[in-house]
Amino acid sequence: MMVPRGVIGASLPHESAKLHVSGRAQYTDDMPLPAGALHAAFGSAPVAHGQITAMDLAAVRAAPGVVKVLTAADIPGENNCGPVLHDDPILADGLVQYWGQPLFLVVATGHDAARRAARLAKFEFEPLPAVLTAEAAMAAESWVLPPVEVRRGDVVTALAAAKYRLQGAVDLGGQEHFYLEGQIAIATLREDDSIHLNVSTQHPTEMQHMVAHALGWRAHQVSVECRRMGGGFGGKESQSSQISCAAALAAWHTKRPVKLRLDRDDDMTITGKRHDFRIEWNVGFDAEGRIEGLALTLASRCGFSADLSGPINDRTIFHADNCYYLDAVAIRSLRCKTNTVSNTAFRGFGGPQGMFAIETIIDDIARHLGCDPLDVRRVNFYGDSRGTQRNVTHYGMKVEDNIAPALVEQLVRDCDYAARRVEIARFNASSPIIKRGLALTPVKFGISFTATMYNQAGAQVAVYSDGTVLLTHGGTEMGQGLYTKIRQIVAHEFGLQVEDVRLSPTDTSRVPNTSATAASSGTDLNGKAAQAAAQAIRARLSAFIAARNAVPPEHVLFTGGRVIAGSEIIPFVDLVGQAYRARIQLWDAGFYATPKIHYDPHTMMGRPFYYFAYGAACAEVALDTLTGESRVLRADILHDVGRSLNPAIDIGQIEGGFIQGMGWLTSEELWWKPDGRLMTHAPSTYKIPAVSDCPPVFNVKLFEGENVEDAIHKSKAVGEPPLMLGLSVFFALRDACAAATGGPVELSAPATPEALLRAIGGLAIPAEAA
Ligand code: MTE
Ligand code: MOS
Repeated sequence: MMVPRGVIGASLPHESAKLHVSGRAQYTDDMPLPAGALHAAFGSAPVAHGQITAMDLAAVRAAPGVVKVLTAADIPGENNCGPVLHDDPILADGLVQYWGQPLFLVVATGHDAARRAARLAKFEFEPLPAVLTAEAAMAAESWVLPPVEVRRGDVVTALAAAKYRLQGAVDLGGQEHFYLEGQIAIATLREDDSIHLNVSTQHPTEMQHMVAHALGWRAHQVSVECRRMGGGFGGKESQSSQISCAAALAAWHTKRPVKLRLDRDDDMTITGKRHDFRIEWNVGFDAEGRIEGLALTLASRCGFSADLSGPINDRTIFHADNCYYLDAVAIRSLRCKTNTVSNTAFRGFGGPQGMFAIETIIDDIARHLGCDPLDVRRVNFYGDSRGTQRNVTHYGMKVEDNIAPALVEQLVRDCDYAARRVEIARFNASSPIIKRGLALTPVKFGISFTATMYNQAGAQVAVYSDGTVLLTHGGTEMGQGLYTKIRQIVAHEFGLQVEDVRLSPTDTSRVPNTSATAASSGTDLNGKAAQAAAQAIRARLSAFIAARNAVPPEHVLFTGGRVIAGSEIIPFVDLVGQAYRARIQLWDAGFYATPKIHYDPHTMMGRPFYYFAYGAACAEVALDTLTGESRVLRADILHDVGRSLNPAIDIGQIEGGFIQGMGWLTSEELWWKPDGRLMTHAPSTYKIPAVSDCPPVFNVKLFEGENVEDAIHKSKAVGEPPLMLGLSVFFALRDACAAATGGPVELSAPATPEALLRAIGGLAIPAEAA
């Protein structure tokens, strides 16, 4: 266990834990609505691609309870909710680009009335050919953004010179966020052309700007607030803007407060998901499996608009090495434009897909050479930071904190890998129908927004004259424990208990120009900003008490609710009261910008990440070769969070991330009809892991160490990296397939029973028809 450092490093419960379990935590939908509030619902397109030739909304307008029906023509400002390119209409204007795209907005006296009315529209379309898959888009050269290539060395020569070569391809599915709280916004007009929104969003500042643009207003007329989300997972980074803009438009037109809460089916149909990929490669390697040359194509289905697909696919490129040194490498990244919903951020932000690619290649190499994939992983690890050999990534960043080899060897010992490998081989030899599989996969994940400018944060801390502390910062709480950690950081600076510190909801009018709470950097950025604000106040209190005791201010101690200066020991609350009466400023703002990082988006070279977070997982599975059913029997995880700020929260993130990653790669399957209509739009057809899917043996440990960089209290970000530990389950299933067939394995993800049966030759139905 970590050595506790007072409130820092303590396993304190989530600050809202009691409210969560007792149902008293207020989510946006729980907020009492002001008098006269209305409800909105989208009317959606019933085709994947087509030009609207007629839209008859008479029946919608006449439906009970309907107050207003809005179309693209009713938007006073810009009809866009796209975060990077302005290619994402709030309401489609003439051209329909995916099945379910919002065409109009109904505003009615009740939620049901709005939804019922929305179904009464009559449309005529001129159908256009729909490009639905990444492969079809590649054939048509249909891109949302131009292809990107990153190369190092001479791949053609390296491939030609390699002793062994393999070619392959694999399909990797997307993932629905399935946040328990769906997308929602409440917009309330305020006096003199201003508006306030309560939004379930990871990015209040972007909502502020998008709403201002849609209304044709300026930023200071719009404020956006979020106390908490019931999960975001990246799905509320950019895509809450369509909801925010629509609610704001409805409020502006009706002059009444408007709530827009998507029904689950609409949410799943209208909002983007994790990018699915078509991955193709050509790899050359030596007799030990050391990769000598790699040509890799990573084609993602972006959907109809760019959204965040640029930076997401960049991160896929940056993580196509995972923990491995790629000497001669050429990566081609294709950002496919399709007539499907616009895919978006999802925990890992493209990184998991890059890692999936390289792990599949490593697994293939191992099976080709007839050795344990773990040994092929080992020979390909980055070299250590002292040498100059094999420690620079394909994007030019030196890996200075490589703990992957040590961490993996510790997990190998802890989980008894070698003995279980032997035992599983013995089991499989005598078990014709049930096959077991084992895999140990590592993770290296770069921390920072790749767009350098987003690596900044602000906070405001107020100490009231009764010694209590209220603070706010730019980050949002989505269950990950950000507020809990910030509370600990600020309590620590004043030597207080966490109960002495409260957080007020994140609000663009309190802390401006915030970045999305994303890229796992919420605590790194806002923690440092809040610490800076608290330290500024503490410095004034220190100077005040130091002066009268003739001690240097830096010798003043804040601990256990008291302040100690030389021989004077005084309760914090008394010192604060005295300071107030002495007219000393007891509140301040703090700011932080991540040091050291730089990156040129044109050459894709530089140091996009401040540091890396590492981890490894070992999963053991059982596969029924008759039915294709599978189960995780045991999982062992060793994960690096530097010096943990809160082990309980961190372990929660690790367990949740692992299970979410496992769901992505096993049971969560998105399925579209050939006409482009998503059929898996509810929990009845889309299967996320349940409690009963947790491995019965589930050992999760934190790796002892600290961040080599000066991150907040030497901790590391933990939000996204553990998702990629779920890869171990997929590769354990691949191992079980290999045990069943004895040969090479072609397994697409998710590894559903159908996919597993196809991989072992037990299912005659081809993928397209299954
Ligand atoms: N954990 C919970 N419980 N709910 C969430 O929505 N989102 C994940 C991760 N962990 C998420 C979560 C994602 S995608 C990110 S980027 C980080 O939390 C964001 O928060 P952080 O930067 O404070 O870690
Ligand atoms: Mo997380 S995908 O960066 O919101």
